[in-house]
Amino acid sequence: MSDTTVFQEARRYRDRLMSRPWIFPESSLPTSTSEENTDTDADPTMKDPYCDGDNPIVVTGNDVLVAKDKIAGGIVRTPCRRTRMSEALRCELYFKKEYMQYTGSFKDRGAFLALLNLSEEQKKRGVVTTSAGNHAQAMAFQGGKLGIPVTVVMPKTAPLVKVTSCRDLKAGVILHGMRFDEAKAHAMKLRNERDLLYIDGYDHPDILAGQGTAGLEILEDIPDVDYIIVPVGGGGLIAGVSAAVKHLSPNVQIIGVESDRCPSWHTAMENGRPIPCRQTQSGAKQSIADGLNVVRVGFNSFATAKIDRMLAVPEKFISTAILRLLEGEKSVVEGAGAIGLAALLSGMLPEVIGKKVVCILCGGNIDATVLGLVIDRGLVQEGRLCRFMVVVSDRPGGLARLVNILAHMAASVKDIGHDRISLSSYVYMTGIACTIETKNRAHAGEVRTKLFEAYGEDLKWQEEDDD
Ligand SMILES: Cc1ncc(COP(=O)(O)O)c(C=O)c1O
Repeated sequence: MSDTTVFQEARRYRDRLMSRPWIFPESSLPTSTSEENTDTDADPTMKDPYCDGDNPIVVTGNDVLVAKDKIAGGIVRTPCRRTRMSEALRCELYFKKEYMQYTGSFKDRGAFLALLNLSEEQKKRGVVTTSAGNHAQAMAFQGGKLGIPVTVVMPKTAPLVKVTSCRDLKAGVILHGMRFDEAKAHAMKLRNERDLLYIDGYDHPDILAGQGTAGLEILEDIPDVDYIIVPVGGGGLIAGVSAAVKHLSPNVQIIGVESDRCPSWHTAMENGRPIPCRQTQSGAKQSIADGLNVVRVGFNSFATAKIDRMLAVPEKFISTAILRLLEGEKSVVEGAGAIGLAALLSGMLPEVIGKKVVCILCGGNIDATVLGLVIDRGLVQEGRLCRFMVVVSDRPGGLARLVNILAHMAASVKDIGHDRISLSSYVYMTGIACTIETKNRAHAGEVRTKLFEAYGEDLKWQEEDDD
């Protein structure tokens, strides 16, 4: 599709929506080709007329109210229940369980609305999108239901569970590039060649309005909520939720949370507008919250969101949060979805003590293998999996003495091995590397003390990673 046609299409779309005056405030509308050409993306073939940095579209609470009625039949009305973790966290804590949507995330909401709002002509031609996973699955699912062809371009690094799910849902899945921007460039090329419509997963106005419906449901279920904690990637969810919630209950405080390895929203705040975040570019692949891995947050999202506080939480709390949700809530929640609880566990939110808090658990799509790794990290963070090196006698009974102490302390040995190489000049001594399971941090401390009493300086306890 040529540039001009894309913008003609955008204007037709805009005009159609103008009959619903709440969608586009007049001041935010692109009006001429020259304005369109001021798009910040240097490459004109990459421009998305619905997400234009120079003319951001502000989605309003009314847009979300309209969206709610529209999508009611196509999404799951997820529960928002009080959790037993309330006591430990010293607040009345409710979980909005968005991982219970059909494709395992809140993305079903926006995808359904965006597809419903397509022109009949575009419904036949189809749409294309880029996503590392959840938006892609939602588009595939909703497109399949509505009979709209959906092509999703995913980076080759996308989690396997998400790629497989998209394929199962019969979307045209293309794996391209290692990074999101490479996948997006390819999706734009397909858009231009095949006359498809590109639907941005965190910045298309209908995506924002659709995601915001989760906020309306929270207000229906917990009308006197004080705080809503929302994970932030590209910002579509927090934009829609905050627009809706502040419209109906302006005193509810909205707290956004991102990983400190992908602080793209913070970067946008510091610069007054979305720009690529270097830290996310380099650190995102080290984040367990892959759903939040967006280098530049959305223009419309940034213009729309009404956030009272933004937090960047240390990554280590995310693993602990996933583990707590598994054990305490019997819920499988992915990193991006658990980051709100991570913020509470980090102690960075003292203001919520004694208040009514809703935390959106927004997705549950995590690879089983990754889940295994995360559980181990979470156990380490909780002091329930510990590792140490100790030098013991290599004569009969040396190892027995060590394991007897551990058995006596009710610490279970998970892994144990000899290391004789490092002690080359001590023929009758050996190093032992040992991983043990303990009940909690206090129990781990007791075991450590007992071993220190027995081995003194020959014990080297592995400290937790600070980062
Ligand atoms: C599970 C999960 N949580 C949160 C987000 C962040 O949503 P947004 O990009 O709209 O900020 C995503 C985005 O993909 C996600 O998949």
